[in-house]
Amino acid sequence: MNVLVTGGAGYIGSHATKRLCDGGARVVVVDDLSRGHRSAVHKAATLIVADVRDTETLTATMRDHSIDAVMHFAALSLVGESVEQPALYWHVNVGGSASVLQAMAAADVHQIVFSSSCSVYGEPSDVPILEGCPRAPVSPYGRTKAAVEDMLIDAGNARPDFSWTALRYFNVAGCDSDGVLGEDHIPETHLIPIVLQAAVGERDGVSIFGCDYPTFDGTCVRDYVHVDDLVDAHVAALANAHDGDARALNLGIGSGFSVRQVIEAVKRVTGAEFPVRQAARRPGDPPELYASSQLAYEQLGWRPRYTSIDAIVQTAWDWKRNVGSYSD
Ligand code: UFG
Repeated sequence: MNVLVTGGAGYIGSHATKRLCDGGARVVVVDDLSRGHRSAVHKAATLIVADVRDTETLTATMRDHSIDAVMHFAALSLVGESVEQPALYWHVNVGGSASVLQAMAAADVHQIVFSSSCSVYGEPSDVPILEGCPRAPVSPYGRTKAAVEDMLIDAGNARPDFSWTALRYFNVAGCDSDGVLGEDHIPETHLIPIVLQAAVGERDGVSIFGCDYPTFDGTCVRDYVHVDDLVDAHVAALANAHDGDARALNLGIGSGFSVRQVIEAVKRVTGAEFPVRQAARRPGDPPELYASSQLAYEQLGWRPRYTSIDAIVQTAWDWKRNVGSYSD
């Protein structure tokens, strides 16, 4: 199978590329390297440095490499940045996805797996979150993901042979079990990498953003899903693709861990001690989010292998300790 991976130099895209290459697929990565790392792209993949909004290059790439399916990860993904620069997020995330879909139509490629997000739900009042829960995103980032899902519906309506799967990730965490790939965002805003930076002394401690939430210990609860499990779902979505698929599926482990529990897990796994401070709430953080992934199980046979926060943190720690960060 020939797969085009957009954003294959990024955190999740690089893990998917590695898995596809290891499984014998021929992979072409399109990435502009604005946020990703060239060295994260698997050596067996062909890297084309281009912006996903460059429809001509995408179309030519799909035709030249006889692409069968697309995994579309390329996007900007910082909620705070999206609030400050909404037009940029619409341009890259929505414009980029329109460009991918246009190129697919021109090159007659009809399968896509799209990187969506639990942020399409906004601040739901009930957990676990089911796919039928109304979409009510509260950030420009979340709105761009919801808009692309709508675009996929329209694309499916226009082409009976089209197959799309939008995977709504909860909090993706951890690093590949071989320790080759990691999570290295600049700037880093995600909880686990930040706490690991504190564990190795790269920052002088960790701030908990809000300790007065209506949760069991007052800190926010999130559903941390391991990146290898997430990649399993992408591979299963392609393996199970049929003409006319139009599906949006949650990917989470089905239970949550609080910010304090994550910090304690990092302390247990690393053996490190570091200061933990209470800070003000971060605007827009819902108290508690966790998924029901029953639909992903029913439709893809997907079950996460990592359900312990210590095991997830351990993989992130192995990479942090052995590699630390990308050099490019
Ligand atoms: N947190 C801290 N201190 C920090 C960093 C984070 O207390 O230094 C807290 C946050 O306030 C939040 C929790 O840790 O309660 C998790 O924060 P992350 O930034 O790691 O993840 P989010 O839940 O904010 O973000 C996730 C995904 C995003 C997605 C978003 C949608 O990582 O890609 O959900 O809601 F957009």
